[in-house]
Amino acid sequence: MATGTNELKNSFKVVQFALGENFSKYSFVDLGCGKGKAMLVWQNELNKRKIPSPVIGIEYYAPLVEIARQNYQKVFHQNCDIHTVDATNFDFSVLGQYLMVYMFNPFDAQLLDRVLSNIANSHSALVFIYLNPIHSSVLVDHGYKLIYEKKGWNNTLWTMIFCNDAAIQNLILSFRLESTN
Ligand SMILES: C[S@@+](CC[C@H](N)C(=O)[O-])C[C@H]1O[C@@H](n2cnc3c(N)ncnc32)[C@H](O)[C@@H]1O
Repeated sequence: MATGTNELKNSFKVVQFALGENFSKYSFVDLGCGKGKAMLVWQNELNKRKIPSPVIGIEYYAPLVEIARQNYQKVFHQNCDIHTVDATNFDFSVLGQYLMVYMFNPFDAQLLDRVLSNIANSHSALVFIYLNPIHSSVLVDHGYKLIYEKKGWNNTLWTMIFCNDAAIQNLILSFRLESTN
């Protein structure tokens, strides 16, 4: 099942508003990108606003990666950045210090716990956009703070957004800048 376009567009607006001018520092990482639908939606939203931030996919199932690459090429006429790798083993530090991690419920609680332990090693400012967030307690247990929640009539319209302390510093800075303007 793929991400709903409107749900992700809403998350884009929320995160862009929250991070303000820090937004463009963040790379979007779709954890378990599947056929790449979320990457297409996010890239399109960035292009509309002329924001040159990276869009990256992580997916361990090679046939899906191939489809995602073809889809991206068809739409944007350029290659996309997808890592064919298990998210529990990937070295996230190679993606930079500012990561916006998108998850459409790709893992059970145990796997999510392992992936979060792995990401924490990258010492990044982290924002998690979590669609169908049925294991959100695992993020809370890892110390992430809930900054936004939107519910709909089913779980594919239920999004939670979490941050770590470094990203919250970016948020506070944005709101300070906004209030002094
Ligand atoms: C629900 S699909 C989400 C697809 C896409 N993110 C979207 O929103 O349209 C979840 C994806 O996570 C991938 N996945 C599950 N466990 C993974 C792991 N340990 N490492 C990398 N990808 C994984 C699956 O192969 C599947 O493609």
